[in-house]
Amino acid sequence: MIDERVTAVLARLEAEDVAERAAGLPSAQRSRQVARTTGQFLFSLVVSGNSTRILEIGGSRGYSTAWLAAAARTVGGRVLSLELDPLKCEAWRRTIGEAGLGDWADLVEGDAHAALAGLAGPFDLVFLDAEKDDYERLFGLARPLLELGAVVVADNILSHPDPLALYAAARQADPTLESVTLPLDRGLEVSSVLSTGL
Ligand SMILES: C[S@@+](CC[C@H](N)C(=O)[O-])C[C@H]1O[C@@H](n2cnc3c(N)ncnc32)[C@H](O)[C@@H]1O
Repeated sequence: MIDERVTAVLARLEAEDVAERAAGLPSAQRSRQVARTTGQFLFSLVVSGNSTRILEIGGSRGYSTAWLAAAARTVGGRVLSLELDPLKCEAWRRTIGEAGLGDWADLVEGDAHAALAGLAGPFDLVFLDAEKDDYERLFGLARPLLELGAVVVADNILSHPDPLALYAAARQADPTLESVTLPLDRGLEVSSVLSTGL
């Protein structure tokens, strides 16, 4: 459910993103959040797929988390978000608190590589949105945590073909996955898990 509190928080973050881009802030100081339509797509994916164990790699200030957590609330699920930057983590907590989504989202503060190695899973939806050079390794760490039918969505496939064309090609060549690049916003690689037990 997207209620007034979620709507207000999403609108605040969208306005901040526009203002920070207009001011020319370096990307490390911006939220680097997904486009609204990508948030809507993630919401639809969770609700239509009844995804209840959701993992987000790269939570930033919580914009995409808010979409995922609002969807998780709708289907009785939960989001675990991984974020490295302490300032982003502080902002993430504010976002999720203001949106009233604290019962549907948790944050693990620190490097996702270390966090993933300590997670049990299984997850049925993963949103991968961290540093592009790390996608391959992060996917590899998340892969054993995925159940049959799980979906991995990776952002920036078309906006950053170097290096992410290789990420997309590797997923599309993997017979244990069905994977397609969706030309939505910055480009999403959507990979469905066809078998586990690697
Ligand atoms: C593109 S932004 C994520 C935007 C967010 N998904 C949204 O749409 O609101 C990438 C985030 O990943 C975080 N990040 C990068 N490498 C990381 C790592 N190894 N572990 C955890 N977080 C990481 C960055 O600090 C940054 O906040």
